[in-house]
Amino acid sequence: MSREFNVAIVGATGAVGEEILRILEEENFPVAKLVPLASAKSAGNKITFNEKDVVIKELTKDIFEAEKVEIALFSAGGSISAEFAQSAADAGAVVIDNTSHFRMNADVPLVVPEVNPEDIKEWKTTGVIANPNCSTIQMIQAIKPLDDAYDLVRVDVSTYQATSGAGKSAMEELVTQMQDFFSFKLDESKHEAFNHQIALNVIPQIDDFTDNGYTKEEMKMVNETKKIMHKDIELSATCVRVPTLRGHAEALTLTFDSDVDAHKARELLSKAPNIVIVDDLEKNEYPMPAACIDKNETFVGRIRNDTYRENMLHMFVVADNLRVGAATNAVRIAQKWIEMEEYN
Ligand SMILES: NC(=O)c1ccc[n+]([C@@H]2O[C@H](COP(=O)([O-])OP(=O)(O)OC[C@H]3O[C@@H](n4cnc5c(N)ncnc54)[C@H](OP(=O)(O)O)[C@@H]3O)[C@@H](O)[C@H]2O)c1
Repeated sequence: MSREFNVAIVGATGAVGEEILRILEEENFPVAKLVPLASAKSAGNKITFNEKDVVIKELTKDIFEAEKVEIALFSAGGSISAEFAQSAADAGAVVIDNTSHFRMNADVPLVVPEVNPEDIKEWKTTGVIANPNCSTIQMIQAIKPLDDAYDLVRVDVSTYQATSGAGKSAMEELVTQMQDFFSFKLDESKHEAFNHQIALNVIPQIDDFTDNGYTKEEMKMVNETKKIMHKDIELSATCVRVPTLRGHAEALTLTFDSDVDAHKARELLSKAPNIVIVDDLEKNEYPMPAACIDKNETFVGRIRNDTYRENMLHMFVVADNLRVGAATNAVRIAQKWIEMEEYN
């Protein structure tokens, strides 16, 4: 029998944590013992994993050693990773972190398995592998095959990001505001997850603003893309929160060093790992958030040449932010790590 691992999920009750649990089940991940961890508020509650009840434990620094954790998937926020990831690494676990805390640390590999799996081998330096931002993952899966073929020099991207990107409470805020709208009480509705009402609105701000006028979310797309692709690509992002629950969409404008043909680009992308082309204009078919929920692939459509420049391409990219943008990528990293460490 192949090797099984003791796996901890830090943030097991959250939007991303719950998705990780489902994907571990679906993938038949080799789990010897599951250790679901959350705050003291959730400790003692149960989650179901592979049809068995498992008790949630409170996250403490000692728990990784006590439970002999070998793989620790963190998705409980940057401050929690800052405080607790080192204890997991010290206990001998590989930490796969979904938060932004370690991403730009030069000693920590930042990995999209379809793009830079070889970087995983650097994990031993700190014990940590970082998962990129949700918007970065789906974009980079779609641009890498085109960069390989045509040498990408610049990306301009506008995002349409679902409320679940800000966690469960943000999804609840949208639902409550819509209920308030139908009760004619929207003007009294509260907003905490976002700076403005999100129902029937779009908000051109995700995360805080930085000194250069861009938000932290936008700068994550810039800096993470360069780190993952090992290339100094020009990138400008406008990240927008929209009133959907799940599935991020992105309109991309790509500029290449050489001329590019939309038909050839579509063909190349159709062969790329975990990319699905949805691009039939006669049938009005293109990627949409409502069609990507619960899927582990990234959907690409509206692939077309620029009407002025032959070295430019436009396309629309959609993926389930909780899966492709977080949980699926984390589990794929874990699977690749097992393969590279030759445990299987
Ligand atoms: N949502 C996305 O699309 C997405 C994508 C990529 C990365 N991420 C990142 O993943 C992280 C989690 O996001 P989320 O959307 O899953 O958030 P969420 O739905 O708000 O869930 C937060 C999780 O963290 C746990 N937690 C909070 N405080 C804790 C503490 N003091 N000790 C232990 N556990 C604690 C919560 O447990 P309780 O239920 O006990 O409070 C819950 O399980 C964030 O850093 C986020 O930036 C999210």
